[in-house]
Amino acid sequence: MRVLATRRLPGEAWDELGEVDVGTGEGPHDDVEILIVANERIDLDRFPALRLIANYGVGYDQIDLDACRARGIAVSNTPGVLDAATADLALALMLAARRRVVEGDTLVRAGAWGSAWSAGPFLGREISGATLGIVGLGRIGSAVARRAGGFDMRVLHHRRTRDGTPGFRELDDLLRECDVVSLHTPLTPATTGLITRERLALLRDGATLVNTARGAVVDEDALVEELVSGRIGAGLDVFVHEPNVPEALRDLPNVVLTPHIASATVETRSAMTRVVVDNVLAFRRGEPLPTPV
Ligand code: DGY
Repeated sequence: MRVLATRRLPGEAWDELGEVDVGTGEGPHDDVEILIVANERIDLDRFPALRLIANYGVGYDQIDLDACRARGIAVSNTPGVLDAATADLALALMLAARRRVVEGDTLVRAGAWGSAWSAGPFLGREISGATLGIVGLGRIGSAVARRAGGFDMRVLHHRRTRDGTPGFRELDDLLRECDVVSLHTPLTPATTGLITRERLALLRDGATLVNTARGAVVDEDALVEELVSGRIGAGLDVFVHEPNVPEALRDLPNVVLTPHIASATVETRSAMTRVVVDNVLAFRRGEPLPTPV
């Protein structure tokens, strides 16, 4: 079975695949049966013989599942192995945004640190003791909740299915009540634009929105307006039109921006490769996929 990957993946497991062509280039790929993708949108018409898409990532919103189903193409993803890395980055963004870490770093690098120590500038807001709202309490959201406990945060959550646990809040109530809101929903038709302009307006003055999920979960234009006004802050790892980031965000001191790196650690990216390879090997052997979508 010819295997094509949009890029070579890191980690030792890759070599177990044997021969793999790398790079999709132009034109049709008539004999490709297995395609390894890493967050890219793929024109399925270019792959008439395709039987498996192995996605290097847990989110698979860029894959047209209806079209795959209609053509009998199996799809796998990499759940489970990136929870810790993604949760770590969510905490890093919370801390960086609220404690003005990037602003401080930029000032020091510019040689603009005026006096040895001053009580005035760079006053941030603590995450310790703050109320955190987690939107989407799946594996990653739960990993964020566990970490937040270590910072003595009060943790509330919202999920699609109302549960009886004490921290559950309806989404609008959660947005009103929290100092920090962290998004952890997959991007689906139900979550596209979930955080609307009206909902952003519910956030408290000085609140911090963290997004390591998908840009399109939020009304990005409305978010940019809120951030430009300075009323709230944010830590954003994901954007609607990656790699393009709204121009207006670039000079704002109240936003920390990272280039979709939540799973980008040596450990996690190798583990994700392991999962991709296990799916491809199982498919070749005619066995059930370990992590089917
Ligand atoms: C994921 O695993 O979904 C990451 O966001 C990369 O796409």
